[in-house]
Amino acid sequence: MLSHIAYVSRSCSPLDAKFLSDILEVSVRNNERDGIGGVLMYHDQLFFQILEGEGRLVEQCYGRICRDPRHSGISIALDETVEARSFPDWLMGYVGPDEIGEHTGGAMLSLAGLNAPELSDGDKRGHALELARIMFKKFSKR
Ligand SMILES: Cc1cc2nc3c(=O)[nH]c(=O)nc-3n(C[C@H](O)[C@H](O)[C@H](O)COP(=O)(O)O)c2cc1C
Repeated sequence: MLSHIAYVSRSCSPLDAKFLSDILEVSVRNNERDGIGGVLMYHDQLFFQILEGEGRLVEQCYGRICRDPRHSGISIALDETVEARSFPDWLMGYVGPDEIGEHTGGAMLSLAGLNAPELSDGDKRGHALELARIMFKKFSKR
């Protein structure tokens, strides 16, 4: 059974090169082992990540990520089973602040709408789902 999880969280410190390479290094290692693909986006201290793979392994990975003290306020936007993969096996693509517009075809220029205090939870979820949809489309064409 394949599944997708997408979540939004807030980084506990600004993302520097070492912070990012530490996360990507362990992610690529574990996700390749577990056949998990997806994308990690970062902007303005917010993370948006999509994980995709075998349901139990995705749950385990998400469990580890939730326990990670380097981010907080984790809010799940999407958790569903799917028929087919949108991301190639084991890919964990990284999309930084300057590339968000390019990767979303200009549909989103920042992640600010994912956690803005004035937005309702429904609106935030809507933005996150929209972003997930854009990313599924983009990466499935690779
Ligand atoms: C924003 C963020 C995204 C992460 N993404 C992943 C991931 O996709 N896969 C993964 O295994 N760990 C990821 N991690 C790291 C996990 O929280 C955890 O440190 C790691 O899975 C522990 O693996 P280990 O037991 O092999 O050391 C992420 C951490 C953060 C803060």
